[in-house]
Amino acid sequence: MKAIPTTVWAIALLSAGLVAPDCAAQDPASQNALNRQVRAFLDANRRQWRDMNVSEVDGQKLFDLVVENGYTTALELGTSTGHSAIWIAWAMSKTGGTLITLEIDERRYNQALENFEAAGLSRYIDARLADAHELVYEIKGPFDFIFVDADKDWYPRYFEALLPKLTVGGCFTAHNVSDRGRRGMRGMAGFVEALESTPNLETEFFRAGGGLSVSYKRAPN
Ligand SMILES: C[S@@+](CC[C@H](N)C(=O)[O-])C[C@H]1O[C@@H](n2cnc3c(N)ncnc32)[C@H](O)[C@@H]1O
Repeated sequence: MKAIPTTVWAIALLSAGLVAPDCAAQDPASQNALNRQVRAFLDANRRQWRDMNVSEVDGQKLFDLVVENGYTTALELGTSTGHSAIWIAWAMSKTGGTLITLEIDERRYNQALENFEAAGLSRYIDARLADAHELVYEIKGPFDFIFVDADKDWYPRYFEALLPKLTVGGCFTAHNVSDRGRRGMRGMAGFVEALESTPNLETEFFRAGGGLSVSYKRAPN
């Protein structure tokens, strides 16, 4: 896993005009302390993720997507015990953003809250015990980063409900999705077709972990 030099990211984002100065890391000492706390938490729990959590390589990919694009308004469906949320929220601590994450299972939700606290990231996360089937229609956007990792058979409906709430330039990502799904693997063929046939989306696939579709919205709906 890469060590992330906070000040380098902040300077790069600022000079690229991706974040306003007041959103960038303002206090290097606090940022360094947070980096150490998150890293220590992730290292200590590397082999403890047993609730369908994403792999480290996928967590790192989510982190990179947020930081490299300066995203600040994230939504996750399927918190579980919080592994992916920790990576996204860590990235948010660098861009000045926040993550809303939804989980339907109370035990996992409570464990996630404990994990967010232990990682030092609670202030970047609005964690909700909720049914995503309802919340995706009720929740107000816009979002510039969406990560879907809840019940797979609902992916097409999550996509349909959330695409209008994604900003132009924003990114819709979904876990356990592969372009090999077109041949019927994992039952994701229909979802992959929906991604690829949407004219204002540009989709690529990240294959190093559990399979991640990464779709950038290039024009309004
Ligand atoms: C694959 S796990 C998520 C793993 C998590 N992203 C991580 O990396 O730590 C899927 C989670 O989605 C939750 N889930 C399933 N259906 C849901 C729904 N309708 N609303 C909210 N959460 C749901 C499950 O309870 C489960 O914890």
